[in-house]
Amino acid sequence: MEKYVLITGSSSGLGKATAEKLAKEGFKVFAGVRKQEDKKTLEQIHPNITPVFIDVTSDESVDCAFETIQKTTNKLFALVNNAGVALAGPVEYIPVDILKKQFDINVFGAIRTAQRALPLMQHCDDCRIVNISSMSSYGIFPFISPYCVSKRALDMFFNSLTLECKMPELKVVSIKPGVVSTPIWNKSVDESMKNLEHLCEEGKKKYAKEFDFLMENARKNTDKGLQPEEIANLVYHVLTTKKPKLSYNIGKDSIFARFMSYLPLELCNFLVKTGLEKRIN
Ligand SMILES: NC(=O)c1ccc[n+]([C@@H]2O[C@H](COP(=O)([O-])OP(=O)(O)OC[C@H]3O[C@@H](n4cnc5c(N)ncnc54)[C@H](OP(=O)(O)O)[C@@H]3O)[C@@H](O)[C@H]2O)c1
Repeated sequence: MEKYVLITGSSSGLGKATAEKLAKEGFKVFAGVRKQEDKKTLEQIHPNITPVFIDVTSDESVDCAFETIQKTTNKLFALVNNAGVALAGPVEYIPVDILKKQFDINVFGAIRTAQRALPLMQHCDDCRIVNISSMSSYGIFPFISPYCVSKRALDMFFNSLTLECKMPELKVVSIKPGVVSTPIWNKSVDESMKNLEHLCEEGKKKYAKEFDFLMENARKNTDKGLQPEEIANLVYHVLTTKKPKLSYNIGKDSIFARFMSYLPLELCNFLVKTGLEKRIN
């Protein structure tokens, strides 16, 4: 029987690699995009891929995407909440609008999409929601707190869904990758540099050294870490194994972040702060 999967944010990085992997393995993939040129690219990757326009921050766009999906099927086997951005800034000065934007995409966008997907999933035995969370969900990375908090909130909202939902067959899984080589890092630096302009002069001066270091480091991440295909393989495993775990770490840095989170907060904070200071100076 055909199994339909919706992946949000499939224009690049993990979403694109996952769409390709699942399509090659025989899944019918609705691949979320926001631009016409991305639709064209994805159409050419594999005949099992059907691009759908979906901006997860818009009710209208998500409704429209599901209308398109329902022209083909009323049964969705899985939703992969992948769309995401990473925004940075010091808590002391970051404008609240930036925090709202971070949550709009990474958290409310995933919930909005899941709320539309669940009615189609109840027609499927053994349906699944896979959230592409992050090692940042452990919350021990200064200056990217908007991103960290959004991933923690994503995990907590969907854990609540697991506890509340009256669909016993539904499995909700959080994948927490470490650094993966994708465009998100450069995009994040560009956006954060723009956002920095909105910081007051005092804020810019006070945190200039830390911010410069972190932005330089983020740019380097574009070419290091895991390959997107490794996450795509894990998503495939989660969709095909009988009993997926609730949470997966992938990447040594993600496993390290998990262990750091077991430490008493005082010790964890001390190690993170002194580690950052050492690297900056
Ligand atoms: N790369 C890493 O190191 C890493 C590590 C852990 C977790 N993750 C997570 O992996 C996911 C994918 O990121 P990536 O690294 O593959 O980066 P990416 O290549 O930048 O992909 C992000 C995707 O999200 C889409 N998107 C952004 N805003 C959206 C919106 N409002 N509505 C719908 N789609 C939207 C983008 O579409 P457009 O092209 O149209 O902007 C793009 O397709 C994210 O949730 C990220 O937090 C990444």
